[in-house]
Amino acid sequence: MQNFELYNPVKVVFGPGTAKDIGKYAKTLGKKALVVTYENPTFFSDLLFQTEKALAENNVEMLEFYKVQANPLVGHIREAIDICRKEKVDVLIGIGGGSVMDSTKIIAAGTLYNDDVWKMFISRHDIDIAIPPKETLPTIMMPTLPATSSEMNCIGVATNEQTKEKAYVYDPVIYPKISIVDPELTCSLPAFQTASGALDAISHVLEAYLNGDQNSPVQDRTQEGLVRAIIDELPLVLKDPSNVEHRANIQWAATLCWNGWLQAGLNAPTPMHQMGHVLSARYNVTHGVTLAIFMNSYFKYTANLNEERAARFALLGENVLGISRGGRSDQDVANEFVDRFHAYMKSVGIPTTLTEVGVPEKDFDAIADDIVRLGCDKNGNLPSIPAIGRDGIMEILKMSL
Ligand SMILES: [Fe+2]
Repeated sequence: MQNFELYNPVKVVFGPGTAKDIGKYAKTLGKKALVVTYENPTFFSDLLFQTEKALAENNVEMLEFYKVQANPLVGHIREAIDICRKEKVDVLIGIGGGSVMDSTKIIAAGTLYNDDVWKMFISRHDIDIAIPPKETLPTIMMPTLPATSSEMNCIGVATNEQTKEKAYVYDPVIYPKISIVDPELTCSLPAFQTASGALDAISHVLEAYLNGDQNSPVQDRTQEGLVRAIIDELPLVLKDPSNVEHRANIQWAATLCWNGWLQAGLNAPTPMHQMGHVLSARYNVTHGVTLAIFMNSYFKYTANLNEERAARFALLGENVLGISRGGRSDQDVANEFVDRFHAYMKSVGIPTTLTEVGVPEKDFDAIADDIVRLGCDKNGNLPSIPAIGRDGIMEILKMSL
């Protein structure tokens, strides 16, 4: 484990029924709230009505910005920033999944930012150096999709529709002030969103497990336990979608998967996310599905690279799926883990190949070019254990067919 600084100031209000308290919390932060959610939010109409009523009862005026789409666009973020400035909004409330919460954070910081908001994004390639935000309006999150942990981290991801780049803001300034995590809000989530969100959460842990500091037994055992809990709980939720206890378990696990606690001291890159972002930006593939695709092919590729990688995957097999070694080699156990994890992802109804999501092989060169341009270091290698060059990226793409 390496030295680290850990700072996470988010107040989490957790449990079934907590969403109705939004007014009580909002009035501690402002008097004029912009509620941010998806376009055509018929799915949330009751929740939005309840929120408006709770805000009014606490003398908080509510404005609406109902335009966010999956893989949110910087153009929409700019539009919302204009509203916040013109209307003198003093608190923002994000109601939705990662796209909504990420947008809400960037809008809140962008409102007080003296330059075009795209300049605060890291990993975009049209400008050399990001200029971090220095301050933000306060934000409250009400997650409706357990997946990204955006409710408890300082990351915001968006796509620039002009340059087709999916990039992120990462700065402690954009931590939400309060997150009201009410699992009842997730009980009507369709199976596909539930499962793809849970796989995204698992990928957050496994990126760090596989690619962070490899001598961190506290993080290792905690991560294994968290992944195991999600693997066990997800089928129960899919079988009994309105069971709020299972929903609560999935939601708290997803919050913990990327709130920084388990990543502390690991200094891990996120190769599967770097590759996945390119698929989302080019083809608008659901984020969790891009991770399922690469948890299939990237696992297959790296588990067979060398003995050290085989041993790491074998450990996952033993501690997460309870695979018995039975005197077999690390490589055999590793391959069994990769196969069984793939079968699990299919069993929860999520596509695991590029073919299934309509990405044609003829595009692989262009996809690899984008991964190198957007996700690789200055030597053209994708940070990972071990680092992967363009040839390896092409191989992974072919293994994704
Ligand atoms: Fe993710």
